[in-house]
Amino acid sequence: MKIIIRPETDADYELITNVINLAFKQTNEGILVEKLRETSCFVSQLSLVALVKGKIVGHVLFYPITINTEKAFCSSLSLAPIAVHPDYQRRGIGSKLVEEGMEAAKRLGYSSVIVIGHSTYYPRFGFKIAKEYGISAPFAVPENAFFAKALVNKGLEDCSGGKVVYPKELYDCM
Ligand SMILES: CC(C)(COP(=O)(O)OP(=O)(O)OC[C@H]1O[C@@H](n2cnc3c(N)ncnc32)[C@H](O)[C@@H]1OP(=O)(O)O)[C@@H](O)C(=O)NCCC(=O)NCCS
Repeated sequence: MKIIIRPETDADYELITNVINLAFKQTNEGILVEKLRETSCFVSQLSLVALVKGKIVGHVLFYPITINTEKAFCSSLSLAPIAVHPDYQRRGIGSKLVEEGMEAAKRLGYSSVIVIGHSTYYPRFGFKIAKEYGISAPFAVPENAFFAKALVNKGLEDCSGGKVVYPKELYDCM
């Protein structure tokens, strides 16, 4: 199966929301992407779609965030949401979205990614429990579901003791 990953275009918006709604079986995450797209921080090159035979079957968003310590604001990315159409799951599409998204993020100069998600899914991409880097979440989240990954050498070095700051739009959709 040939999977093409590319950044979203204006023509994709409705199709992206549809895929997200189908994958999550609710509308919160689709609304979140629509709201974040309206913000000045949104990076369309990091809102990626997966196509199979020209059809959008998956989407991932990497959204800029900061990890704030007493000394510094470290820029990072939040990987969320990620969605694959239920008919196309478990065929490597989610993995390709994560991997190509991280490559794109690296090319754009980002040095790390944070994700809240399934404890067995993210370690395969090199994510580690965020606590190992001394990074905490701004709300209660199980320790084994809160991950961080450095995209470059020492990419999380200055973030120890830091707390992730998510965009307010996330809280509206929780
Ligand atoms: C999570 C999701 C994006 C994965 O996409 P995918 O294309 O099915 O993933 P891949 O084919 O690349 O990888 C499949 C692997 O992911 C694992 N996986 C899929 N969903 C999972 C879940 N909910 N919990 C844990 N592991 C999961 C599978 O067990 C499989 O593992 P294996 O390779 O050891 O068999 C997709 O299942 C999805 O859209 N789920 C609904 C929305 C969601 O939960 N998003 C993530 C929020 S963190």
